[in-house]
Amino acid sequence: MNILVCGGAGYVGAHVARELHLRHHKVTVLDNLSTGHREAVRWGQLIQADILDTNALDSVFRENTFDAVIHLCARSIVSDSTTDPYGYYLNNVQGTLNVLRSMRANGVGKFVFSSSAAVYGQPISDVIHEDHPKNPLSPYGSSKWMVEQMLADAWSAYGLSSASLRYFNAAGAAHQDGIGESHDPETHLIPNVLRSLLAGTPLNVFGNGYPTPDGTCVRDYVHVEDLASAHVLALNYLDQNQGTHAFNLGSGTGFSVMDVIRTAERVTGRQARISPREPRAGDPARLVASNLLARTRLGWNPSQQDLDEIVLSAWRWHQDTAY
Ligand code: UFG
Repeated sequence: MNILVCGGAGYVGAHVARELHLRHHKVTVLDNLSTGHREAVRWGQLIQADILDTNALDSVFRENTFDAVIHLCARSIVSDSTTDPYGYYLNNVQGTLNVLRSMRANGVGKFVFSSSAAVYGQPISDVIHEDHPKNPLSPYGSSKWMVEQMLADAWSAYGLSSASLRYFNAAGAAHQDGIGESHDPETHLIPNVLRSLLAGTPLNVFGNGYPTPDGTCVRDYVHVEDLASAHVLALNYLDQNQGTHAFNLGSGTGFSVMDVIRTAERVTGRQARISPREPRAGDPARLVASNLLARTRLGWNPSQQDLDEIVLSAWRWHQDTAY
């Protein structure tokens, strides 16, 4: 298939482009490079354009024939979204609407959307299933949930088939192919732990009084290569199953912040310097996925579940190639 990957220069997007290439699909990346990296576009042509530029989008769709769109463009820093909600709704909701309208005008009927565990808000169960109530805690989470609701309406009105993939914590790197996680500023735990171990600087740990076994937040870390493979499975699924669908993408296992730090120390042979901080606003104590639906419907089989291996792949990337 000929696939447009919006946001294909970002962390997850670059891994999706790689996976599509490995599965013999043709890839075109559309990215404004505001947070993405030119160096990460290694599988397919880069079109540098903004999803808020409807003229640019229209010409991209007019000049190419795509079978489907995988859409990962988003502003994605939860705390930022609370101080700039208009900016988040503009980019994440209006921008997505622009892509969907161009698709419709040009007869493209399949859409895979990068959603988030942030749609659920404060969990009311130990393990989160897709039908868990949606009470996002931030404009970022709301923006993802709004798009999911738009997609349900787009199926009823226009017959657009879509799969929303609710990522838990993307982690690791396809370091062997020179891509990995790089944000500026970096807010995510694993890259921050590794950067602090490399530089010998202190690591902020946000909160140690949560109702978890060691008092730090528990998250579900899923290897970014496994995340990427789910996008290709979702495209195949949409071929056979029209409609609007949503799947959790997590490993189903929770690790605390301290588990991650101890793992990173073991993998790198270095000792972390921990700087305890107040809890970050809006961090749920525990977010762990049920991935049963993705396993049974998509045939997804996350194969890189070992946290040591996940952290090691990220460490290799940080040591060798980080852009
Ligand atoms: N943390 C630290 N120190 C750091 C960075 C993070 O202690 O330097 C802690 C956080 O407070 C949190 C845990 O590590 O308890 C994980 O934080 P991340 O920022 O790595 O990930 P989040 O779980 O906050 O965010 C992820 C996705 C978001 C999504 C969110 C849903 O990255 O896109 O889950 O809640 F919105």
